[in-house]
Amino acid sequence: MSMDLEKIKGLLRAVPDFPIPGILFQDIFPIFKDPVATQTLVNHIANHIKSLGKIDVIVGLDSRGFLLGPWVASILGIAFQPVRKAGKLPPPTHKVTYSLEYGSDSFEIAKDGVLPGQNVVILDDLIATGGSAKGAGDLVKQCGGKTVQYIFLIELKGLNGISKLDAPAYSVFNFD
Ligand code: PRP
Ligand code: MG
Repeated sequence: MSMDLEKIKGLLRAVPDFPIPGILFQDIFPIFKDPVATQTLVNHIANHIKSLGKIDVIVGLDSRGFLLGPWVASILGIAFQPVRKAGKLPPPTHKVTYSLEYGSDSFEIAKDGVLPGQNVVILDDLIATGGSAKGAGDLVKQCGGKTVQYIFLIELKGLNGISKLDAPAYSVFNFD
């Protein structure tokens, strides 16, 4: 069984002024209430990654990038590796500071999480300013890996976050 992608897009819930005034929050969790929608989405992303050629590792971003990443990786029979907010992973790690809309934060990855020369897809639920995804891309570079593509469930196009990235991006759903 599968579901039309436009119907899945309709399950997203836009919440005005959350978590702070002026932000229109896109809630992805209604999708996970529907197993057919969830399976369709996971299979869609896995099929897309198959079209990219040889990918060794899916790198998912803390925390909503963890929802789809391990599932897609296991369908493809490849590794999943988390990028976590600083202080959550045991050493040794690589660390990077990335910019948020207001301020900055730090991400880490296990030093051997991506091996030199490996092909990587970076996966997250959403790209807004692109600061988080760029931080993850910098960590993959520190490991010696090659980011082949960035994949997002949702792209907020108005912020042009993908212009910060060092590889092409694919988004399942776009919003202006
Ligand atoms: C949200 C979202 C992306 C990031 C996008 O994560 O899940 O990871 O912001 O924003 P950017 O493109 O401007 O960097 P958040 O940091 O809120 O944490 P969460 O995934 O743990 O909810
Ligand atoms: Mg996130």
